[in-house]
Amino acid sequence: KKTNQDNSDGKQNDLEFNKSSAQNEFLTTNQGVKINDDNNSLKSGERGPSLLEDFILREKITHFDHERIPERIVHARGSGAHGYFELYKTMEKYTKAGFLNDTSIKTPVFVRFSTVAGSRGSTDLARDVRGFAVKFYTQEGIFDLVGNNIPVFFIQDAMKFPDLIHAVKPEPHNEIPQAASAHDTFWDFISLMPESMHMIMWVMSDRAIPRSLRMMEGFGVHTFRFVNEKNESHFVKFHWKPKLGTHGVAWDEAQKISGKNPDFHKQDLWETIEAGNFPEWELGVQIIPESDEHKFDFDLLDPTKLVPEELVPVTIIGKMVLNKNPDNFFAETEQIAFHPGHIVPGIDFTNDPLLQGRLFSYTDTQLSRLGSPNFHEIPINRTIAPMHNNQRDGHMRQEIAVGKVSYHPNSLGGGCPFQAKMDQGGFVSFNERVDAHKVRARSKSFSDHFSQAKLFYNSQTPVEQDHIASALSFELGKVEAISVRERMLGLLNQVDANLAATVGKNLGIPVPKDIEKPINHGVGADDKGTQEPSKVN
Ligand code: HEM
Repeated sequence: KKTNQDNSDGKQNDLEFNKSSAQNEFLTTNQGVKINDDNNSLKSGERGPSLLEDFILREKITHFDHERIPERIVHARGSGAHGYFELYKTMEKYTKAGFLNDTSIKTPVFVRFSTVAGSRGSTDLARDVRGFAVKFYTQEGIFDLVGNNIPVFFIQDAMKFPDLIHAVKPEPHNEIPQAASAHDTFWDFISLMPESMHMIMWVMSDRAIPRSLRMMEGFGVHTFRFVNEKNESHFVKFHWKPKLGTHGVAWDEAQKISGKNPDFHKQDLWETIEAGNFPEWELGVQIIPESDEHKFDFDLLDPTKLVPEELVPVTIIGKMVLNKNPDNFFAETEQIAFHPGHIVPGIDFTNDPLLQGRLFSYTDTQLSRLGSPNFHEIPINRTIAPMHNNQRDGHMRQEIAVGKVSYHPNSLGGGCPFQAKMDQGGFVSFNERVDAHKVRARSKSFSDHFSQAKLFYNSQTPVEQDHIASALSFELGKVEAISVRERMLGLLNQVDANLAATVGKNLGIPVPKDIEKPINHGVGADDKGTQEPSKVN
């Protein structure tokens, strides 16, 4: 049942084994016993009490009672599709990853697009970041590119992620997402986190209300590494470029669409694939030699920064086509488990402190969301590369591992079949040299929070800049705490004085002369661990 083919059908063939159709089949219990009446429970007399012994009713209701699993803590609302990735030109100079070396390989993929903050039943057209997660079922194992449609992130360190999400999600006491004061918590947090200003510019722009999922860019956000056969490393940034171009709707349209059809994006993706108009994205990479690591006026490890395309052009290396809707939303789109730590030989991490924290978070959350350490066996999650190891047991284990040995080393199990041998393509982490003092701090090279926010704002047309000002006026207009509004104006003033003045005018408050200085989050440690007293930015 496991296939290992160099073509885009590899995953579909793998899934075939688990598919079933009830058409023209007899209704049965889970135990395969035929049911002759699915309308009436077993009773003592037609008007009498129901009988506990009714195993057909009990089984049906019990299963129904347990249909729901927790929604994702973030990115709860999603839409997914199958497809394939095709390489235009070999990247072997930079990476030994097979699917990026051999242009004859078509790699099956599953993509899940999502909004971040809303619950599973929220609207598609919310102003929000969009998740853009791609699972590549490669011959060497699964590679997940778990990205967003915005190239940077709100925060620099994973330590702040729970705070960010607690600030953006509905408040704990009333859980009313649209309550007037619901905007207070998000903007309160942002106003105290100047590092978020670059991302805020993107989120207040038309990028955060896409016209269609087919018309969004995707970004890996973090700097990753490519590692080649000679064990040479290059830094790499990943980009998805939609063939249809990048388009947004206006805020007024977004609100109307949300009212009339909150499933607008989900439906658009489904229908376009059903109609055979397969959406396509090209994969681009920005490659930076190790020797250029410190050449930029920002830090490559800082996820609030992008690498301007003027400095490092994006090279297009392949194309992704989404050509098949899922057969079952829950089984595929809901149960899929992405993880930025799913990498294959030839791709590796950097020390970006946001990425490093993510490497812990995803499996941890999926253990409770999917309920068992065996979720890699769920059909949509299982690799099409051969998979063998000594892990065993656990809730709902599907594999029936044959033999008496589940440890290594062993002499009784027919040798050492599980030994990862380097010369057989076993994963070897890039041997980056790390030699520093242990510190709980962040690098000074992470402290410029405004240059790229300005860069983005200035790259927008006057109409787009108006949209940013209107979005900020709308959002901050919902904030009840005047101190938060003022602090935000102070930050906006450091991005663009006209922008701050326009938003201030719309809010009816002047841009404060003496800006309340945001808290500095421990920036200033040098690599010897000496930390300067907290300074304001
Ligand atoms: C989903 C954590 C930053 C992209 C998730 C989930 C968690 C999480 C717990 C739910 C996963 C699940 O239930 O399967 C974190 C943490 C972050 C972080 C702790 C920072 C420290 C980011 C960043 C990006 C991102 C920077 C984009 C580059 C996504 C996407 C999903 C997701 C696309 C949805 C995947 C899907 O469709 O199933 N994240 N995240 N996250 N995250 Fe993050």
